[in-house]
Amino acid sequence: MTSFTENLEFSPGLLEDLDEIMAIEAVSFSHPWTESMVLSELFDHPFAFSTVVRMRKEKKIIAYAFMRILLDELHLMDFAVHPAWRRRGIGMQLIQQVLLTAREKGIEKILLEVRASNLPAQRLYQKFGFFQIGERRNYYYKPREDAFVYQLNRVHEIPPFMLLENGASEAPNLKNAALLTHKRNILSELSPQDFNHVSKEEEK
Ligand SMILES: CC(C)(COP(=O)(O)OP(=O)(O)OC[C@H]1O[C@@H](n2cnc3c(N)ncnc32)[C@H](O)[C@@H]1OP(=O)(O)O)[C@@H](O)C(=O)NCCC(=O)NCCS
Repeated sequence: MTSFTENLEFSPGLLEDLDEIMAIEAVSFSHPWTESMVLSELFDHPFAFSTVVRMRKEKKIIAYAFMRILLDELHLMDFAVHPAWRRRGIGMQLIQQVLLTAREKGIEKILLEVRASNLPAQRLYQKFGFFQIGERRNYYYKPREDAFVYQLNRVHEIPPFMLLENGASEAPNLKNAALLTHKRNILSELSPQDFNHVSKEEEK
């Protein structure tokens, strides 16, 4: 019998995926991206990358991630799993794809913003060693809310088993020990500027 994860297919997003992505966007966010924002990530931008997750047999999209590479950083721009498919490890697999994309491109630093109240997403990021480096006040609309800025450094040093299917949910002791070491290494090298991600505009 094939397992659930064997029935998943990861590939770059295409124009024909737009409607399915928009449908998931609409049920995942209180202030979803517009069609033109998603289109721009799919096509118009030379530094934009996407991954969509499909059910292999049904060819139905159930999750996606949009990323941009800006100089030496990968920014996770948008990321969602269809509500009917949450809590099955797809979010973790998507983050693994994001990490693999960063590694392929030789990028060491990943940055993202997340709503202060979005604990499910924050827990997911923390599982991979992302840590909060700052906040952007009133960054989100509907409702108005602060963003937390999360960062992951030294992507190439992430233990390989974290990048394998289900790797982050298996061997929790090994995972925690490896992540702790990884975080210690990262924190020992950070400068005060790394924690200063509140822009001048937001400070007013
Ligand atoms: C955040 C999101 C992508 C998680 O996707 P998912 O496929 O359900 O996540 P997973 O099943 O891989 O869960 C991985 C871990 O994330 C955390 N997590 C996920 N959902 C959670 C929830 N509802 N409550 C608490 N923790 C949660 C847990 O630590 C979980 O590990 P565990 O199952 O061992 O406890 C999904 O909830 C989503 O699409 N939310 C709406 C869009 C969104 O918030 N995107 C992020 C924008 S920054």
